[in-house]
Amino acid sequence: SSTIRCEATEASVYRETVETINLDWDNLGFGLVPTDYMYISKCSQDGIFTKGELLRYGPIELSPSSGVLNYGQGLFEGLKAYKKEDGSILLFRPHENALRMRMGAERMCMPSPAVEQFVDAVKLTVLANKRWVPPTGKGSLYIRPLLFGSGTVLGLAPAPEFTFLIFVSPVGNYFKEGLAPINLVVENEFHRAAPGGTGGVKTIGNYASVLKAQKRAKENGYSDVLYLDSVHKKYLEEVSSCNIFFVKNKIISTPEIKGTILPGITRKSIIDVARGQGYQVEERLVSVEELLDADEVFCTGTAVVVSPVGSITYLGRKVEYKNNGIGVVSQQVYSSLTGLQMGLTEDKMGWTMK
Ligand code: COI
Repeated sequence: SSTIRCEATEASVYRETVETINLDWDNLGFGLVPTDYMYISKCSQDGIFTKGELLRYGPIELSPSSGVLNYGQGLFEGLKAYKKEDGSILLFRPHENALRMRMGAERMCMPSPAVEQFVDAVKLTVLANKRWVPPTGKGSLYIRPLLFGSGTVLGLAPAPEFTFLIFVSPVGNYFKEGLAPINLVVENEFHRAAPGGTGGVKTIGNYASVLKAQKRAKENGYSDVLYLDSVHKKYLEEVSSCNIFFVKNKIISTPEIKGTILPGITRKSIIDVARGQGYQVEERLVSVEELLDADEVFCTGTAVVVSPVGSITYLGRKVEYKNNGIGVVSQQVYSSLTGLQMGLTEDKMGWTMK
């Protein structure tokens, strides 16, 4: 359903397809590496998106009065592509991202691309940038779909035009700790979301509002911030960039989805994987005291994958987990999930897409 508007010459397209990239694949972090192409499709309030186009990756034109710049009408998604030993490329559950974008778009008064357009656009963008997919075992190609109000507004209202854009970047580990356990601090002053708000959708504003607490935490030597609910100020919500799980007496628990936390696709996959391995998994209210008493704590997300938590600091008290946070359950679910994502184990659930 998409066309390629290629500003490159035939020779450069050939070069880009076969020429390997001279990147330090062993030291990829989670920083932007600009690639060759991005995908763009637009729509007006009629909800009909234009045929998508692949354009050279680069700056886009945006009116100073666009809805996204003035009133934050925007959403993003995140998913990854992995290269297998045989050179083929796997996507992990792209339909889930498409559905989550549709859900978020409804909340943010935006039309959203159909699931098929979303998935086709992801495939097209990955293939156009396939030389940027890291070699097997060195990382993944992070795919960042955006949907935002690009039309102009002055009074507060939904924008009259929307842009669906996808760009990609090769990435390695999200946290500077690499695969080593992270240290979290429980935030007491700021909250990420409130009942009835937008905490349950992937809107850009949710991420801007956590920057201050995250900055302060990093300055104090922590990896990231863990948020509590804004009503009782005692139940866990999520970390700035990922969901949280804990294990006690072999039972796995994670905060339930109730509109204030992001319904993570990795979260949902880990729940299914763990249940498939015989674990009892509970989605419920989880108090911060329970977390401090846990046997094991780990975070999940597309960017962070599964990150073990070495310590949690709450009201000045630091709790360090056994074995420096490297727990049996987090290691087991990490291997099972990444085995599937990288095509190393049989995909009985049909979660991957070639
Ligand atoms: C992801 O895990 O894909 C996210 O969107 C989190 C982001 C802060 C990197």
